[in-house]
Formats: sequence, C-alpha cells, structure tokens
Amino acid sequence: MKGDGSDAEKKRAAESAATAVEDGMTVGLGTGSTTAHAIRLLGDRVEQGLDIRGIPTSFQARELAVEVGIPLTSLAESTLDVAIDGADQVAGSVLLKGGGAAHTREKIVDTAADRLLIVVDSSKVSERLDKTVPIEVLPAARTTVATRIEDIDGDPTLRAATRKDGPVVTDNGNFVLDCAFGTIDDPQNLSTVLSTVPGIVEHGLFVDCADELHIGEATGVRVEQF
Ligand code: A5P
Repeated sequence: MKGDGSDAEKKRAAESAATAVEDGMTVGLGTGSTTAHAIRLLGDRVEQGLDIRGIPTSFQARELAVEVGIPLTSLAESTLDVAIDGADQVAGSVLLKGGGAAHTREKIVDTAADRLLIVVDSSKVSERLDKTVPIEVLPAARTTVATRIEDIDGDPTLRAATRKDGPVVTDNGNFVLDCAFGTIDDPQNLSTVLSTVPGIVEHGLFVDCADELHIGEATGVRVEQF
C-alpha cells in the first residue's frame, strides 16, 4: 500500500535491508536520513555482538557510524559484501542520487559491493526519472561543464550553500551543478554522455547498480529484486 513518504516508512525500509547484514560482513554505509536508520540499527546489533566493519560514503555517515559504535575500514583494506544506501528518486533499478552531494563516494562504494540494497520511502518511487541530476564538478570546470550541459538541452544550477555564502562544497572539495533535463527517457545514454565530459567528477544517475529495492510503505515493506 502506497504511503506518505514519512519517517516511519524510511525506518521500515531500513529495517528490512539491515536484516541482510550478517556476522563477518563488510558493509557500505550510505548517506541520508533513510540510511541513517539502517546505520543506527546496525549499531544496536553491534552492541549485541554482531561482528561487522563499515565503509562510510560521506562525512555524515562516518560520524554516525562512529557515534553508534560500528568499527570502520576502507576500500584499500577490505572488499564489500553489501552496501545499504538511499536514493532521491527511483524508477525500477535506475536511481537518482546526490541530493546530499555525496553521490561520488556513494557510487564508488555502492558499485564495489557484491550486493547493493537501496532503501527508500514510497514518495521516491516514480514511473520515470524527472528530478534534477546532481553533477559534482571540479570548481575550475564549473562554467565549461555548464555550457556542455546546455548543449545537450540541460539546465544547470550551481547548488547554493545554506548558512554559508556561495556554493555547496562537497566532501571532496568540489561544487555541484543540479541539472534539469525534464523527463529522462534514456538514463543509460545520458549517464554515458555525462561520464565523457571533462571536469565532471561524477553524476547522480545510477543505472542498473541496485540489486534490491526496499520500499517503505504505509503498512509494510515492498522488496523488488533485479
Ligand atoms: C546523498 O547524496 C544522496 O544520494 C542520498 O542517498 C539521498 O539524498 C537520500 O537521502 P534521504 O534518505 O534523506 O532521502
């Protein structure tokens, strides 16, 4: 049953995905309010004796993992059994991410995992993707990338910081262009085109990366497997 995108839905999705984590696993820890529920749940289980290592995808995820007592490791030291991450919009197995400007590290960690479990509330599910695509850019390339985005009929906006003058600066020291393309009919093609633009560090289209979608709904969880 479709719900309201509430925090209760986010928690249901997180609970569902967190049950896939078992003793001995290395777990990618995604960014955002939905994954935060999963990190807290895993922290509770670690306190009860679960033996796992986490690899965070952002400053936020790292801080929370430390707070709840999940031991951390890195991609240089460990391989990933599973990653749990959120999304800003999902259409089947295609995701839009980067609402928290963390999509570069998320894509590195998520695609390195044997299994990627995406956790979302029901408001994120859509027939087709139509939200803006966050694109992390090297600061020096922001104007050349913006011009290239306009050339392919996109409308780029430099993401502004709140409570700081000027742009958002990512965990990697870069800027974010939020790019409107209307409804994205061919996400695979757009992903490929964006990946060839000099100065783009990473974009928020995740095409066919997800193995499972855990959708929190009003009274339960719907799981889709790909
Ligand atoms: C971070 O940059 C995004 O990719 C997040 O995964 C996304 O914004 C999900 O956040 P919520 O769970 O808070 O909606």
